[in-house]
Amino acid sequence: MRGSLRARAFAKINLELRVLGTRPDGYHELRTTFQSIALADTLTFTKTGGPFRIECDDPAFPTGRTNLIWKAAESVRRLAGTRGRLSDVTVRVEKNIPMQAGLGGGSSNAAAALRAFCRLWGVKASPAMLQAAAAELGADVPYFLCGGTALGLNRGDVLFPLDDIDPSWAVVVVPEFGVSTRQAFAWWDSSPRRNPRASNDLQSVVARHHPVVSRLVRTLNKEGAFLASLSGSGSAVFGLFSRRSDAQAAARTLAGPRTFVTPTLTRRACRLLAAK
Ligand code: C5P
Repeated sequence: MRGSLRARAFAKINLELRVLGTRPDGYHELRTTFQSIALADTLTFTKTGGPFRIECDDPAFPTGRTNLIWKAAESVRRLAGTRGRLSDVTVRVEKNIPMQAGLGGGSSNAAAALRAFCRLWGVKASPAMLQAAAAELGADVPYFLCGGTALGLNRGDVLFPLDDIDPSWAVVVVPEFGVSTRQAFAWWDSSPRRNPRASNDLQSVVARHHPVVSRLVRTLNKEGAFLASLSGSGSAVFGLFSRRSDAQAAARTLAGPRTFVTPTLTRRACRLLAAK
């Protein structure tokens, strides 16, 4: 294939997240419902001469070997049985999904990159091979190969597609601080206190360190969200509304610098829009 290939990598929110226990591998046993939203990064893969490169205007975005796009490229090369250094591709990332927000930006980039490198290099990987490669890159990565509304079990990497929820509008508020997933689970381990009224078990432990989380959830509930919660391990908080105008009104009340109003996406919409 010549020229460029463009992929959109959508963000997710977690409609529910239950921590069921710890696992011998140090991970946590989860039961979570993922939901795609239209907020997305755009990845452009261009065949070039020279070294493998990841480029992004955001200086906070890591562009080296630790980036999951880089690791996805190495995975696809392993699937193809190719040895040697990566080269001859530049990946340009237009970063719109805030990092350390619980919106799955890095994992979504990784899933989009797995698909794109397979196409770019003509590698035929079965869905099961792709799923296994995704799970190796991170617990959330397999979900992004599926999208829409889906149940995640085990580490969140064993997926069961669910009926899509009714089309809704999400108000996503991202505080100025980020939360590392590893840190959030460590907070959970040292004090696994559940708030039965919260739909995300990590919400109360994250809110204990960042009280603004509870305030944002309360405000979104007061504004009429039918569900308001921390997303993943945070720091983003979202509220879901049936009507766009209600979501926009809530976003105006919150008026933060990183507040997004974005529709939820069905699995089919994810598939159709990913390459547009
Ligand atoms: O798989 P990923 O690299 O995205 O996970 C980041 C960190 O989050 C892990 O190193 C682990 O500390 C924590 N985690 C967990 N249980 C999960 C998913 C993630 O403890 N189910």
